[in-house]
Amino acid sequence: MDAFSKALQADKREIIIAPTIYKMADFGQLAEEFGLGERDVVLTNEFIYKPFMESYNLPCQYIFQEKYGLLEPSEEMIEMMYEDIKYDSYDRVIAVGGGAIMDLCKLLGCKRPSSVHEMYFKREPVIHEKEVIAIPTTCGTGSEVTNISVAIVKDEKDGVLTGGETKLGLVSDDIIPNKVVMIPKFLETLPYRPFATSAIDALIHATESFLSPHRKTLTSEMYSVRAMELILEGFRRIGEDGPDARLGYLDEFVTASNMAGIAFLKAGCATVHGMSFPLGGTYHVPHGESNYALFGKILEIYDEKDPDGEIMRFKELVARITGCEVANAIPYLNELLEKVLPLKPLHEYGFKEEDIEAFADSVEANQQRLITNSYVLPWTKELSMRVYRECF
Ligand SMILES: NC(=O)c1ccc[n+]([C@@H]2O[C@H](COP(=O)([O-])OP(=O)(O)OC[C@H]3O[C@@H](n4cnc5c(N)ncnc54)[C@H](O)[C@@H]3O)[C@@H](O)[C@H]2O)c1
Ligand SMILES: [Fe+2]
Repeated sequence: MDAFSKALQADKREIIIAPTIYKMADFGQLAEEFGLGERDVVLTNEFIYKPFMESYNLPCQYIFQEKYGLLEPSEEMIEMMYEDIKYDSYDRVIAVGGGAIMDLCKLLGCKRPSSVHEMYFKREPVIHEKEVIAIPTTCGTGSEVTNISVAIVKDEKDGVLTGGETKLGLVSDDIIPNKVVMIPKFLETLPYRPFATSAIDALIHATESFLSPHRKTLTSEMYSVRAMELILEGFRRIGEDGPDARLGYLDEFVTASNMAGIAFLKAGCATVHGMSFPLGGTYHVPHGESNYALFGKILEIYDEKDPDGEIMRFKELVARITGCEVANAIPYLNELLEKVLPLKPLHEYGFKEEDIEAFADSVEANQQRLITNSYVLPWTKELSMRVYRECF
């Protein structure tokens, strides 16, 4: 095991809730509470700014993410943003958006590195300098409370660029936002598909944290369980009444994703996230969707390898929340998710047969902090290859 994963497992903190968490009705309330003004950079999307912020006419410096590309954050995108938003032009960062914007705002709060690539490969330190206020507008990543910023970076093997790309998490407690404000209303304009993939992502955070063999604590489990209860109840409603059922339940979804974020900040994500990173990085599959593509299969393998461990408690929990049989909990969960969003095989994302081994190698090389947190240990290259092959 690498030194970093070892250090994570040795961490004795029971739970980490670094930001102060607020819930508010709208942006106006937030502007008043925090006295937003000229020295505030607001990083958001124009389509969120127009309906929810424009009418307040605040003198803040608004920056729209789409100017730098709408895809997930990448090395190039962050460099461009750094170039554009001069470091001495602001004192505070307000981020209003999905996980991508949450991740970007963390970097705006930091001292500028000489190279973003070097920082992601841990060869330059991360130093927090400016206050960051994070307002999530999706109900997935929990990124507003976490110490991770994920970006697509040029892949390396043994310190040498491979010519390919992968997704890497920059991890440091120094990048956790200082304040979080949940404003459920902001999710009203989120289209159904990103809503569904982000909510599934949150469910995966709660599940991976619940099953985490070394890092979970009694307190992180409490956050996992409550998040699962809220999300599965929401999915049950969507399964029965269709996508619009989410609209009366947005507060619960955004709160659940925040709780799942708190759970995984302590307990850690695992194999699903580790294996989805090369897929997301190479084929630009949205984060929640690439996790979803692998989640059901990985749960099946966990259950096959060690059915009576913590996964038995997970199945009992799913059965208690949904009313299904314990023995049938994993297939039932996968069917419920199918109703929320039909599952696609990997080849539909462009995944090729030769990726089976190449991606398994990339997971081994770059995702140790995640796969060392697997429910089945050691999580081998052969197991990764099996998942990719059976999801192909
Ligand atoms: N730091 C972490 O802890 C962490 C954890 C998981 C994922 N991530 C990262 O988060 C990102 C994924 O986040 P996401 O699932 O929230 O996706 P996202 O941020 O890409 O948002 C999904 C889509 O919905 C749009 N959108 C967001 N809010 C909207 C709203 N209210 N109305 C209309 N459109 C809206 C976005 O512009 C985007 O097109 C990835 O970059 C992933 O790597 C980070
Ligand atoms: Fe995630």
